[in-house]
Amino acid sequence: KTVTGFASATIGNVACGFDVLGFAIKEPGDEVILTLHEESSSESPVSIKTIHGDGGALPRDPKKNTSSFVVLKFLEYLRNHKGIDFQGHIDLELKKNLPLSSGMGSSAASAAAALIAANELLGGPCTKMELVHFAIEGERVACGSAHADNAAPAMLGNFILIRSYNPLDLITIPPPDQLYCTLAHPHIELRTAYARSVLPRSISLKTATEQWGNVGALISGLLTSDYELIGRALVDVIAEPKRATLIPGFYQVKEAALGAGALGCSIAGSGPSIFAFSSSAATAEKAGTAMRNAFLDIDEHLEADIWVS
Ligand code: HSE
Repeated sequence: KTVTGFASATIGNVACGFDVLGFAIKEPGDEVILTLHEESSSESPVSIKTIHGDGGALPRDPKKNTSSFVVLKFLEYLRNHKGIDFQGHIDLELKKNLPLSSGMGSSAASAAAALIAANELLGGPCTKMELVHFAIEGERVACGSAHADNAAPAMLGNFILIRSYNPLDLITIPPPDQLYCTLAHPHIELRTAYARSVLPRSISLKTATEQWGNVGALISGLLTSDYELIGRALVDVIAEPKRATLIPGFYQVKEAALGAGALGCSIAGSGPSIFAFSSSAATAEKAGTAMRNAFLDIDEHLEADIWVS
C-alpha cells in the first residue's frame, strides 16, 4: 500500500506574533510518499528510500531526518497510547519542493506531509490535533527549537494562534476573503537556528506593550476583515529589527511592496523570505513584481521567486 501526503509552505510570526501566529498558503508544498511493507526490518521501522530536490543536504538517517523522525514518533505514540504495535516497515520518499532555510516553513511542511501520509497508511488512528504534537517535535530536530507557528498551520491550514504551548492550545482563524499574500524568496539561505540566535534574550516592558498591542489588533483585523487594521498591525518591534540586518535590502523590498499598494510587509518566519499582505489579487501581483525588482536593484544577481495566494 502506498499513500501520498502533501503540506504547504507556512509563514510564521506574521510580523508581531513571534512564535505564536502563523498561516498556511496554498502552494508550493512538500510531498511525502510512504509505502507499507508487511515484513519488518531489523534496523528501523521507517527508512528513507529517496529524497528529491534537497541537493543532498538533508540527513538520510531516519532518526535525524525531520520527515522520518516524526513518523517514528507517531509509531511510538500508537504503541504507548493506542495499543497499536506496528510490526511492518515503511519506506519514505520525500519530494522537497520548498527551498531549505528559506523562512517558508520547509521542515514543518515535510513533517506534516509525512504525518498525514502515515496516519492514512495506518487507517487514521490519530486526529490532526494529535499529529500536530509530532510535527512540532520535528521542528526541534530540524532547527533546535520546537516552535509551532509553522508546524500547526502546516497541519491544520488557516491562521493558527498558539495561545499556550503547555498545554498546547491552538486557535484557528480562517483568513478574510479578500486577503492576498505575496511571498518573495530571494535565493539565499538563512538558518533558523542562526536567525534565532540574534534575537534579544529580554525586552523592555515598553517594547512588549507595543508588540502585544499589535498582536491583538492583527487578530481583531483578521476576524473582522478590517484590511486597514491588518496593515496597521503588521508591525514587529522585536525580531524584525534584528533579522533585517541578515537580509540584503530588507527595508528596500518592504518599501517596494508598500509602494505598490500592499497593506503591510514583514519577514516570513525567520527569513530570508519576505511576505506582504494586499486586499486585491492585482495589488498582490504588483507587490510581487516590485519586491523582485527591489532585490535585483540591490544586487543584480539576487533573483527571487514570487508566489501570490
Ligand atoms: N517563529 C519562528 C522564528 C519561525 O521566527 O524563528 C521560523 O520559521
